[in-house]
Amino acid sequence: MMPTRLVTTLALTLAAGIATADAEDYIKYRQAMMKAIGGHMGASTQIVRGKVDPEGDLAMHAHALAALTANLPRVFPEGSDFGETKAKPAIWSERAKFEQAANAARDATAKFAAAVDAGDSAAIAAAHKDVGQACKGCHEDFREKDD
Ligand code: HEC
Repeated sequence: MMPTRLVTTLALTLAAGIATADAEDYIKYRQAMMKAIGGHMGASTQIVRGKVDPEGDLAMHAHALAALTANLPRVFPEGSDFGETKAKPAIWSERAKFEQAANAARDATAKFAAAVDAGDSAAIAAAHKDVGQACKGCHEDFREKDD
């Protein structure tokens, strides 16, 4: 006999049209993607703060961030809310609000990439800060805190 909770989860998952194995794969995939996003953000921060100046890299990071955050909700399908994930249930129960947070990040990274292309350092710094706020905005409401 499987534990009731597991049976319920399986039933809900299957009802939502995504198999358990797929849900686990999505969780792994989006965590890898978020790590990549975090990497580009951390690297950008070093450049924006003037710690390093590798020629051309800021445009690479900014465009990678824009591409990676262009459509975040798709990596949070229904049923991928259990197991090894920090994704909060509110991602699915407050979907419109979650999508708003994702859109804010999408818009902020697009603006950051445009500012980098335009080359105005004040605008770049401001846009970079807005990207950070957009990350935080979503994490505050939709990601479990680290233990
Ligand atoms: C629309 C919501 C949303 C936005 C916007 C967002 N994140 Fe996340 N992020 C999440 C959620 C939810 C998780 C937890 C995912 C999981 O564990 O399944 C996460 C996880 C992470 C992780 C941990 C990955 C791991 O498992 O080790 C990092 C790093 C991260 N995000 C960085 C960022 C950065 C940097 C930005 C902004 C450029 C950003 N995120 C924007 C929702 C978001």
